[in-house]
Amino acid sequence: MTHTSSTPTHHKNERTFVIIKPDGIQRTLIGEIIGRYERIGLKLVGMKLMIPTADMVRQHYTLDAGWMQAVGEKSIKGFVDKGQIPPTTDPLAIANDILNRLEKYLTSGPVIAMVWQGAHAVKIVRKITGGTEPLTSDVGTIRGDYVLDSYQMSEIDNRSIRNLVHASGTVKEAEDEIKHWFKDEELVDYSIISDEILYAPDMKDILG
Ligand code: CDP
Ligand code: MG
Repeated sequence: MTHTSSTPTHHKNERTFVIIKPDGIQRTLIGEIIGRYERIGLKLVGMKLMIPTADMVRQHYTLDAGWMQAVGEKSIKGFVDKGQIPPTTDPLAIANDILNRLEKYLTSGPVIAMVWQGAHAVKIVRKITGGTEPLTSDVGTIRGDYVLDSYQMSEIDNRSIRNLVHASGTVKEAEDEIKHWFKDEELVDYSIISDEILYAPDMKDILG
Protein backbone atom coordinates (compact mmCIF):
# COMPACT_ATOMS: atom_id res chain seq x y z
CA MET A 1 0.00 0.00 0.00
CA THR A 2 1.29 3.47 -0.81
CA HIS A 3 0.29 6.50 1.22
CA THR A 4 1.79 9.79 2.33
CA SER A 5 4.16 9.96 5.29
CA SER A 6 3.17 9.88 8.94
CA THR A 7 5.22 10.73 12.04
CA PRO A 8 7.96 8.13 12.60
CA THR A 9 7.71 6.18 15.86
CA HIS A 10 9.90 3.04 15.61
CA HIS A 11 13.68 3.19 14.87
CA LYS A 12 12.98 1.54 11.53
CA ASN A 13 11.07 4.68 10.52
CA GLU A 14 13.98 7.06 11.15
CA ARG A 15 14.72 9.26 8.17
CA THR A 16 17.81 11.10 7.05
CA PHE A 17 18.59 13.63 4.37
CA VAL A 18 21.33 13.22 1.76
CA ILE A 19 22.54 15.38 -1.11
CA ILE A 20 24.75 14.09 -3.90
CA LYS A 21 26.74 17.29 -4.41
CA PRO A 22 27.63 18.64 -7.89
CA ASP A 23 31.03 16.87 -7.90
CA GLY A 24 29.32 13.52 -7.22
CA ILE A 25 27.18 13.98 -10.30
CA GLN A 26 30.07 15.24 -12.47
CA ARG A 27 32.18 12.26 -11.36
CA THR A 28 29.37 9.92 -12.56
CA LEU A 29 29.03 8.41 -9.10
CA ILE A 30 25.25 8.67 -8.71
CA GLY A 31 24.65 4.93 -9.00
CA GLU A 32 27.62 4.05 -6.81
CA ILE A 33 26.53 6.39 -4.02
CA ILE A 34 22.87 5.40 -4.08
CA GLY A 35 23.91 1.73 -4.23
CA ARG A 36 25.81 2.02 -0.96
CA TYR A 37 22.80 3.34 0.93
CA GLU A 38 20.47 0.89 -0.78
CA ARG A 39 22.51 -2.26 -0.18
CA ILE A 40 22.70 -1.79 3.58
CA GLY A 41 18.91 -2.00 3.71
CA LEU A 42 17.81 1.62 3.75
CA LYS A 43 14.74 2.57 1.75
CA LEU A 44 14.61 5.58 -0.58
CA VAL A 45 11.47 7.58 0.28
CA GLY A 46 12.17 10.89 -1.50
CA MET A 47 14.36 12.02 -4.40
CA LYS A 48 14.80 14.98 -6.75
CA LEU A 49 17.33 16.45 -9.16
CA MET A 50 17.76 20.23 -9.08
CA ILE A 51 20.16 23.15 -9.14
CA PRO A 52 19.68 24.73 -5.71
CA THR A 53 19.46 28.50 -5.29
CA ALA A 54 22.01 30.36 -3.15
CA ASP A 55 19.26 31.00 -0.57
CA MET A 56 18.41 27.29 -0.34
CA VAL A 57 22.05 26.50 0.38
CA ARG A 58 22.59 29.28 2.95
CA GLN A 59 19.39 28.42 4.79
CA HIS A 60 20.28 24.72 4.72
CA TYR A 61 23.60 25.24 6.49
CA THR A 62 22.23 27.74 9.02
CA LEU A 63 19.12 25.76 10.07
CA ASP A 64 21.15 24.78 13.12
CA ALA A 65 22.28 27.92 14.97
CA GLY A 66 25.36 26.11 16.32
CA TRP A 67 26.67 24.93 12.94
CA MET A 68 28.84 28.01 12.24
CA GLN A 69 30.79 27.68 15.49
CA ALA A 70 31.08 23.87 15.16
CA VAL A 71 32.29 23.88 11.55
CA GLY A 72 34.83 26.60 12.36
CA GLU A 73 36.21 24.68 15.33
CA LYS A 74 36.33 21.40 13.39
CA SER A 75 38.22 23.05 10.53
CA ILE A 76 40.80 24.61 12.88
CA LYS A 77 41.29 21.20 14.49
CA GLY A 78 41.78 19.69 11.01
CA PHE A 79 44.86 21.89 10.58
CA VAL A 80 46.18 21.65 14.14
CA ASP A 81 45.92 17.82 14.18
CA LYS A 82 48.29 17.69 11.19
CA GLY A 83 50.73 20.17 12.76
CA GLN A 84 49.64 22.89 10.31
CA ILE A 85 48.72 26.49 11.01
CA PRO A 86 45.02 27.33 10.44
CA PRO A 87 44.23 30.40 8.27
CA THR A 88 42.76 32.08 11.40
CA THR A 89 41.95 30.95 14.94
CA ASP A 90 38.52 32.60 14.92
CA PRO A 91 35.96 29.80 14.26
CA LEU A 92 33.25 32.21 13.06
CA ALA A 93 35.57 33.88 10.57
CA ILE A 94 36.46 30.49 9.08
CA ALA A 95 32.79 29.47 9.09
CA ASN A 96 31.83 32.58 7.18
CA ASP A 97 34.32 31.74 4.42
CA ILE A 98 33.11 28.13 4.43
CA LEU A 99 29.51 29.25 3.97
CA ASN A 100 30.40 31.55 1.06
CA ARG A 101 32.32 28.75 -0.59
CA LEU A 102 29.49 26.26 -0.02
CA GLU A 103 27.09 28.63 -1.73
CA LYS A 104 29.29 28.61 -4.86
CA TYR A 105 29.92 24.86 -4.69
CA LEU A 106 26.35 23.68 -4.29
CA THR A 107 24.86 26.07 -6.86
CA SER A 108 27.50 25.17 -9.47
CA GLY A 109 25.42 22.40 -11.04
CA PRO A 110 22.71 19.84 -10.43
CA VAL A 111 22.49 17.98 -7.15
CA ILE A 112 20.29 15.06 -6.08
CA ALA A 113 18.40 15.53 -2.83
CA MET A 114 17.22 12.32 -1.17
CA VAL A 115 15.51 11.03 1.93
CA TRP A 116 16.51 7.56 3.18
CA GLN A 117 14.55 5.63 5.79
CA GLY A 118 15.48 2.72 8.03
CA ALA A 119 16.80 1.74 11.44
CA HIS A 120 19.21 4.38 12.77
CA ALA A 121 19.22 5.97 9.30
CA VAL A 122 21.09 9.09 10.44
CA LYS A 123 24.03 7.27 12.04
CA ILE A 124 24.17 4.53 9.42
CA VAL A 125 24.31 7.04 6.56
CA ARG A 126 27.03 9.07 8.31
CA LYS A 127 29.04 5.87 8.82
CA ILE A 128 28.78 4.92 5.14
CA THR A 129 29.47 8.50 4.03
CA GLY A 130 32.61 9.03 6.14
CA GLY A 131 34.21 12.07 7.78
CA THR A 132 34.13 15.54 6.27
CA GLU A 133 37.70 15.58 4.94
CA PRO A 134 38.33 12.90 2.29
CA LEU A 135 42.06 12.78 3.14
CA THR A 136 41.29 11.51 6.63
CA SER A 137 37.92 9.80 6.16
CA ASP A 138 37.96 6.04 6.60
CA VAL A 139 38.69 3.58 3.81
CA GLY A 140 35.42 1.89 2.84
CA THR A 141 33.39 5.08 3.14
CA ILE A 142 32.14 7.09 0.15
CA ARG A 143 34.31 10.09 1.00
CA GLY A 144 37.26 7.80 1.78
CA ASP A 145 37.03 5.69 -1.36
CA TYR A 146 36.07 8.02 -4.20
CA VAL A 147 37.78 11.36 -3.67
CA LEU A 148 41.04 12.80 -2.36
CA ASP A 149 40.49 16.37 -1.18
CA SER A 150 41.84 18.00 2.02
CA TYR A 151 41.30 21.06 4.23
CA GLN A 152 44.70 22.29 3.12
CA MET A 153 44.05 22.00 -0.61
CA SER A 154 40.61 23.62 -0.42
CA GLU A 155 42.12 26.49 1.60
CA ILE A 156 44.88 27.12 -0.95
CA ASP A 157 42.32 27.27 -3.75
CA ASN A 158 39.75 29.21 -1.68
CA ARG A 159 36.97 26.70 -2.31
CA SER A 160 34.83 24.12 -0.54
CA ILE A 161 36.11 20.69 0.24
CA ARG A 162 34.79 18.44 -2.53
CA ASN A 163 33.47 15.47 -0.64
CA LEU A 164 30.68 14.24 -2.97
CA VAL A 165 27.86 13.98 -0.44
CA HIS A 166 26.01 15.83 2.31
CA ALA A 167 24.40 13.74 5.06
CA SER A 168 22.50 14.98 8.12
CA GLY A 169 24.50 14.80 11.36
CA THR A 170 21.67 14.28 13.87
CA VAL A 171 18.01 13.23 13.90
CA LYS A 172 17.00 16.83 14.61
CA GLU A 173 19.17 18.13 11.74
CA ALA A 174 17.61 15.49 9.47
CA GLU A 175 14.07 16.54 10.38
CA ASP A 176 14.83 20.21 9.74
CA GLU A 177 16.66 19.51 6.48
CA ILE A 178 13.95 17.21 5.14
CA LYS A 179 11.37 19.95 5.75
CA HIS A 180 13.64 22.47 4.07
CA TRP A 181 14.09 20.46 0.85
CA PHE A 182 10.88 18.42 0.54
CA LYS A 183 7.16 19.01 0.80
CA ASP A 184 5.35 16.40 2.85
CA GLU A 185 3.58 15.03 -0.23
CA GLU A 186 6.91 14.50 -2.03
CA LEU A 187 7.85 11.77 0.48
CA VAL A 188 6.44 8.32 -0.14
CA ASP A 189 5.79 5.74 2.57
CA TYR A 190 5.71 2.23 1.07
CA SER A 191 6.69 -1.34 1.86
CA ILE A 192 9.56 -3.26 0.30
CA ILE A 193 9.99 -6.97 0.76
CA SER A 194 13.48 -6.63 2.30
CA ASP A 195 11.93 -4.77 5.26
CA GLU A 196 10.48 -8.14 6.28
CA ILE A 197 13.82 -9.83 6.87
CA LEU A 198 15.34 -6.70 8.42
CA TYR A 199 12.57 -5.92 10.87
CA ALA A 200 10.23 -8.89 11.49
CA PRO A 201 10.35 -9.58 15.26
CA ASP A 202 10.18 -13.33 14.59
CA MET A 203 11.99 -14.68 11.50
CA LYS A 204 9.77 -17.79 11.57
CA ASP A 205 6.91 -15.60 10.35
CA ILE A 206 8.83 -15.12 7.09
CA LEU A 207 10.65 -18.43 6.70
CA GLY A 208 7.62 -20.61 7.43
O1 CDP B 1 29.27 17.60 5.64
P1 CDP B 1 29.70 17.38 7.07
O2 CDP B 1 28.55 17.31 8.05
O3 CDP B 1 30.65 16.22 7.20
O4 CDP B 1 30.58 18.66 7.48
P2 CDP B 1 30.16 20.08 8.06
O5 CDP B 1 31.14 20.40 9.14
O6 CDP B 1 28.73 20.17 8.38
O7 CDP B 1 30.49 21.04 6.83
C1 CDP B 1 29.61 21.12 5.74
C2 CDP B 1 30.40 21.12 4.44
O8 CDP B 1 31.20 22.30 4.38
C3 CDP B 1 31.41 19.99 4.27
O9 CDP B 1 30.83 18.79 3.82
C4 CDP B 1 32.36 20.57 3.25
O10 CDP B 1 31.90 20.43 1.92
C5 CDP B 1 32.35 22.06 3.60
N1 CDP B 1 33.53 22.44 4.39
C6 CDP B 1 34.59 23.05 3.73
O11 CDP B 1 34.54 23.24 2.52
N2 CDP B 1 35.70 23.44 4.42
C7 CDP B 1 35.80 23.23 5.72
N3 CDP B 1 36.90 23.62 6.36
C8 CDP B 1 34.73 22.61 6.42
C9 CDP B 1 33.60 22.22 5.73
MG1 MG C 1 27.22 18.78 8.70
